[in-house]
Formats: sequence, C-alpha cells, structure tokens
Amino acid sequence: MSFDVEAIRAQFPILAREVNGHPLVYLDSAASAQKPLAVLDAMRRLAETSYANVHRGVHTLAAQSTEAYEAARDVARRFLNAAHREEMIFTRGGTEAINLVAASFLGPRIEQGDEIILTEMEHHSNIVPWMFLKERLGAVIRVAPVAEEGALDLSVLERLFSPRTKMLALTHMSNVLGTVTPIRQITELAHARGVPVLIDGCQGAVHEPVDVQAIGCDFYVATGHKLYGPTAIGLLYGKRDHLKAMRPYQGGGEMIRTVSFDDVTYADPPAKFEAGTPPILEAAGLGAALEWLMAQDRAAIQAHERELLAQANEELGRLNWVKRFGTAPGKGAIVSFEIEGVHAHDVATILDGRGIAVRAGHHCAQPLMERLGTPATARASFALYNTAEEVDRLVRGLHDVRRIFA
Ligand code: ALA
Repeated sequence: MSFDVEAIRAQFPILAREVNGHPLVYLDSAASAQKPLAVLDAMRRLAETSYANVHRGVHTLAAQSTEAYEAARDVARRFLNAAHREEMIFTRGGTEAINLVAASFLGPRIEQGDEIILTEMEHHSNIVPWMFLKERLGAVIRVAPVAEEGALDLSVLERLFSPRTKMLALTHMSNVLGTVTPIRQITELAHARGVPVLIDGCQGAVHEPVDVQAIGCDFYVATGHKLYGPTAIGLLYGKRDHLKAMRPYQGGGEMIRTVSFDDVTYADPPAKFEAGTPPILEAAGLGAALEWLMAQDRAAIQAHERELLAQANEELGRLNWVKRFGTAPGKGAIVSFEIEGVHAHDVATILDGRGIAVRAGHHCAQPLMERLGTPATARASFALYNTAEEVDRLVRGLHDVRRIFA
C-alpha cells in the first residue's frame, strides 16, 4: 500500500479552507486532529437513519443504535488488540478514563504513604487525578526525571520503586517533546515488582501501533478527537480481572443490575463503567475513525510523519534563533520551540495571520515546562495530512516572526 498525502487530504474537507487569506496549514493535531469524511458520514448516517438511545429500548431504532454502538467497541478492541471486548470502556475522553482508574482502581488500595510513580513529562490529565489521591488519602507522588534531550532514564526510574509503590502511570508519547517511551520495557520493570501500570496513550495511540496484550499494561487510555474521531469520547482499556474487581466510577442508569432503596447491585463491565446515556453518535464516529485509520498503511503514515519531523528539524536547526525542545531518538512528529526574544503566544498569533495553526503555551504540562526552564513554547505537531510544503510555510512564517521582532 503506498501513501498518497493528496488523496488523504482530499478526505478532510476542512483542509481546503483559507484562514486569514491564506490556505490553512494545520499544525495543531496534537491538540485535536481534523476529521475525515468517513467519520463525519458515519455520525450523520446514524443520526439520519437509526439514532435512538442504546441498551434501553426494544424498538427498531434502539436496536440499530445499540448495534452500532457495540460494533464500535469491537473496532476499538481490534485497534488496541485487547483480548476481550468487555475490556474496552467508552469514556468521555482520556481525562475521564484516567480519573476513573485513579478513583475506582487505585483509590481503594491507597493508604497514607503509599507511592505513585509518574514522569516529569506527563500531561496534567495524568498528574491531577493522582494528586487527588495525595490530597485526599496521603499518597506520595514520585517523579521519574526527564533527561536533557527529553528521554527517560530507566535506571533512575527503576530506583523510584519501593515496597510502597502502588501504581506507575506514564505517557506513551509526550505531547510537548514527542518523546516515545519504551512502554513494554517499563511495564515489565513495574510488573517485576508487582506494580500495575497505566499508559496514557492520548498521543501515542495516534502515531504508534498499540497492542495492549504485547505491552502487558493494566490500563491503556486513548481519546477520540486526536485519533481523527469526535470529541467527548475516550477509550479505557483495562484488564478484565481489574475491571471486574473495581468499584463503579459514576452511578446512574445502565450500570446497575438491580436498584432498591436498600441495596444496589452492579452490571458487569463494560456497562458498570458507562453510567448514563453514553456518547452514541461519538462512538459511531470513533469506530469509523479507527476503521479508517486501520485501513491506512500505518507504517507509511509513520514514515511520512517522521520525514516531516526530520525536515522541520533540519530547517529549524539552521536557525540559531530557534531553540527546540526534545530530541530523544525515535521521537514522534512534534516540534516544540522558542524564538529568541519572542513570546510563544506572539509566535502563534503571527503564524495565524499567515494561515498557520500551532499551539502555544504550557501545553497542560507545567511541571515539564518548569524542567525545561521556560513558561511557554510554540508547538507544531504533524499528522498524516501534513505536507513538506507546509513545513516550508512554517519556516517562512518563523522568518517573518523574527523580522517583525528584530
Ligand atoms: N493535550 C492536548 C495538547 O497537547 C490538548 O494540546
């Protein structure tokens, strides 16, 4: 299968628009990716032909919607290669998935002084839910440092384990540095000490193949909107035995077996963790996004994105007024940078004037920014629909920034 970027682009209607009089250059897919027609069509089709609430009705539309919703779960299972469909929980996003694990899996296991290992490059969504356990139950957060180029030092990480360690939670791919972590090896290190592992795959699952059985992790989290799917839906993979043993996260309809004013009994997973009306159209959209992605040549996509990254690194590397953050080997297609004497928000604003969308700020990773010694960076993140010409436009835009502030 060959990779034809123009054929890919043609499937994303938004890429044809102009912004501020220039053809859009969308380099903010790490914040949220654009949606192909396959996703938009699947959501619209369900809404136009078969939409109703799921798991609740005996009428035809309810049955058809339920079928579409559960079919999306099967697609998600295949995407992450989970062993069982009931190991796949639909959440409202990656953030909810991590909060769910922190509250329902780890919370009940924590005693004052128990330890949770994180890394210095986690997104706030993989920090704050664990901080709740520090605030409320006296857990201790231990942090694996990130070396200068953005990689984790596994020998240092290894030394953080203690008999009190109750969890290791880490990113598959940093949203700031692009660093890809050796999740299989790290999971082995943790499991050798009896420590469960959660992988935040919100960035990683987009760019790296994921096989949760091969990784062996206890939990893996992904989010729909970065996977070319809709917002407001995420995926939580959890090992079946964990999910069975865990208490529910939210109470409400459909997560129960029986309810009386004396007693409640709970449904089995996945229903136990899907209280209330779930994101039905979004599940159909996510299923379509994952099918669409799996139908592409993912190795070719990865090669394409890495070429864009190499081009950006080479072109930016020639500019001594651009400082890049994160050069770990094998990193994903994200470039975070600073321009000497220019605030990241000004960089992003000037680029926007030229139709180029990048993110600027702390990227919801304040501890990492502190480690990098900067309050904010600009970040260009590449996706399968970006082109070499767009990298050139970014570089030309940065020359303009430099000229304006010179
Ligand atoms: N986590 C998203 C980002 O990195 C929002 O931009």
